Amino acid sequence: MDGGDRILERLAQLRAGDLAVRGGRTMAYVYDAGLDELEELAGRAHAALAGVNGLDMTAFPSVVTLENEVVARAAELLGGTGPGARTVGTFTSGGTESCLLAVLTAREHARRTRGVTAPEIVLPTTAHAAFHKAAHLFGLRVVDVAVDPDTYRVSARDIAAALTERTALVVVSAPSYAHGVVDPVPEAAAAAAARGVLCHVDACIGGWYLGHRRLAADLPAPPPFDLGVPGVTSLSVDLHKYAYTPKGASVLLFRDAELRRHGWFAHAAWPGYPVVNATLQGTKSAGPLAAAWAVIQHVGTDGYTDLARRVHLATRRLVDGIGRIDGLRVLGEPDASLVAVASTDPALHPFVVADEMRLRGWYLQPQPAFADSPANLHLTVTAAVAGGDRIDELLTELAAAVPRARDLGPPVVDPALIELARTLDAAALTPDEAALALAAAGVGADGALPARMAPVLAVLQELPPALTERLLPEVVSRLYGGA
Ligand SMILES: Cc1ncc(COP(=O)(O)O)c(C=O)c1O
Repeated sequence: MDGGDRILERLAQLRAGDLAVRGGRTMAYVYDAGLDELEELAGRAHAALAGVNGLDMTAFPSVVTLENEVVARAAELLGGTGPGARTVGTFTSGGTESCLLAVLTAREHARRTRGVTAPEIVLPTTAHAAFHKAAHLFGLRVVDVAVDPDTYRVSARDIAAALTERTALVVVSAPSYAHGVVDPVPEAAAAAAARGVLCHVDACIGGWYLGHRRLAADLPAPPPFDLGVPGVTSLSVDLHKYAYTPKGASVLLFRDAELRRHGWFAHAAWPGYPVVNATLQGTKSAGPLAAAWAVIQHVGTDGYTDLARRVHLATRRLVDGIGRIDGLRVLGEPDASLVAVASTDPALHPFVVADEMRLRGWYLQPQPAFADSPANLHLTVTAAVAGGDRIDELLTELAAAVPRARDLGPPVVDPALIELARTLDAAALTPDEAALALAAAGVGADGALPARMAPVLAVLQELPPALTERLLPEVVSRLYGGA
């Protein structure tokens, strides 16, 4: 057997090639409270229950208590308590699983209560990709609803117009990932309710933050977005985002147990143990649940409210500061702590800015152009980003990266290449053709990506989405050893 130290050293070596998960310079994917003690507490709580199997809550009753307490906390924060409230919830492995379950539940509800056999889901074009995944997996037809080209919010009128007797679910975001804006939840939920349709609020990324910001009397109240809004029937909120818990933690709240039950799966007709699954998983470690429970207990309502205050102030300073950098602009008016930064200057491409910032130790996430949303950079402001002089540092680095990116100019995309790519039939693309297309975009035969990603991303965003969706799995397949 290899020595433990050597094994751990190998892990550390591998991690050295990753983005930093703490410190506030990675502005997507990771959520850092900037509190050192949280990591240790969470790690110990995780380890204490890692071997417990949430598959069977009768064998491991600790998971019932922990889950009920975590769900109760989320319900209390997000409009699920009060006179007449019958809110229940489910702890899931993350935002995607919460969204999938919300859709599965709605599909089953529509089938059983309204006889809908060809279900539809009404999605603003800004809804998270997880809902498209759900529609794909569970066989719902997506009815896309365009959003306002300036505010990036959907209009309730357009939602209402998209409803049919087949609609199983309407989804709105609070806030959306790409632009950080909150859809008009009361109006959209009312439109859905008027047709007897369920309405899900995707508060995966911002719900915990907005809920606590609302508790701070000195901060601007967020727009109404939660289960307290009439017509809202379910809501997802991730704990592994703004509750700063280890990954693998989200809560899906339902207006009542009757609705929640439609998404459950029970099976007794096999020779093994009787199965009841409230989530998509079977065996599941109680580690993430225990860690989430511990972190929530430790930080507490006042602690989260304080973190939300810091994040709010930092986001304001960031938005103001970006407005002062010649060539950059913020898309829409962010309602939460997510900021999308675009360019006002054709000579300055956001993806080149991202490459420059990466060289300076910052990760800003490129978001390709889509519909009325130009190419931009996504910045998630967490408490760690709000800490110390981080925002000043970020603005200083950005102010230096912008002229450099302008000197470099936008990535050059060969129009003939795009023209050719557009003639390809994504569905019929052979592996050899896919390999050629990837090589033309600058991707290595082993899936390796260049240090400077702007040229690759610039090509990808010009391609029809169906072709990009065909090519991206090819890249990943190469990384995992398949050509
Ligand atoms: C609004 C929204 N919904 C859903 C998700 C999916 O969450 P996860 O990545 O935890 O699966 C995200 C992730 O960022 C999100 O921002």
